Amino acid sequence: MPGDGIGPEIVAEALKVLERVAEIGGLELEIEQGLIGGAAHDAAGHPYPEATREQARRADAILLGAVGGPQYESLERDLRPERGLLGIRSDLELFANLRPAILYPQLASASTLKPEVVSGLDLLIVRELTGGIYFSQPRGIEQRDGQRYGYNTAGYTESEIERIARVGFEAAMKRNKRLCSVDKANVLEVSELWREVVERVGQEFPEVELSHMYVDNAAMQLVRDPKQFDVMVTSNMFGDILSDAAAMLTGSIGMLPSASLNSEGVGLYEPIHGSAPDIAGQGKANPMATVLSIAMMLRHSLNRNDLAERLEAAVGRVLDQGLRTPDIHGDGMQLVSTQGMGDALVAALDDA
Ligand code: NAI
Ligand code: MG
Repeated sequence: MPGDGIGPEIVAEALKVLERVAEIGGLELEIEQGLIGGAAHDAAGHPYPEATREQARRADAILLGAVGGPQYESLERDLRPERGLLGIRSDLELFANLRPAILYPQLASASTLKPEVVSGLDLLIVRELTGGIYFSQPRGIEQRDGQRYGYNTAGYTESEIERIARVGFEAAMKRNKRLCSVDKANVLEVSELWREVVERVGQEFPEVELSHMYVDNAAMQLVRDPKQFDVMVTSNMFGDILSDAAAMLTGSIGMLPSASLNSEGVGLYEPIHGSAPDIAGQGKANPMATVLSIAMMLRHSLNRNDLAERLEAAVGRVLDQGLRTPDIHGDGMQLVSTQGMGDALVAALDDA
């Protein structure tokens, strides 16, 4: 589902890469194109039309470009492109959002932080995506004591905490076996329960070193010494904020993928950036975040870790060759277009 703005350009390159890696790995794929966001609104009158819903429900994995753009801002809330994203996330119950923040050594100077603080950074934030304060009831704005009062509820059931905790522990098992659970248990009852349930799930993973941190401290620590973290697991809103902060430690929005998974292993894979209307249609967009989202797809939904690694290695090789789209361009590097980057990635896959 390419979506809007730079979406179609980056998805076209990512598909080229996917097709090549599938060919190399003998992976048979059935690929369908779907409409979402503003593109779907234009073609079908809705950002998440029924036909797209049906496609999503029968897919093993979904690749999404980005949605949104200035031309859609005057639409009523329910017809806006972003509703397409919320629709697909809740429809497929994609409760686990995986957001890696990796700083490629070749791009160390892109970060605003000192190289010694961020070089070699490789952390994963696991964010709960379908519960918590963004969804819990009651919520609203009402009249109370002669003035308007706005409120939300930050609720989690034990089973919601359990399943996201398990994703966190499982991810830690595949990495450096350290999990930091982030909450605000000194103030919030919901966090008290969160901590208790995470501890309990942790007993199933004795090899994983579990720690807990209050979210305010976690924000501080992410900026002070981000390399202390391996995997972080947290609730919806805390994860929203911390994952954006962590992403920016790497300084390159065009390089960061994400995955949102449900309990059947079906996943939605997308770059963390938006539709970048300021550069759409100019061949300037970096397709790497989308290509790296495909690596996550190979790993988490298609069970082909070998191909995920091959793809990630190809990204490293292209960076080593000095090829750069404008967002990551620097002295002495070779400027390439979106398509040029896609071609280089396809070629680098064969070099492995
Ligand atoms: P944005 O992420 O689209 O762009 C922010 C800045 O980063 C822009 O200067 C853009 O040119 C640059 N950029 C983004 N992706 C890039 C890439 N792959 N290569 C090179 N440069 C890149 O965020 P912005 O401008 O706040 O939002 C634009 C539109 O995207 C809005 O309509 C917004 O609602 C939507 N949006 C959609 C998201 C999604 O589909 N998941 C997420 C965030 C925003
Ligand atoms: Mg956000």
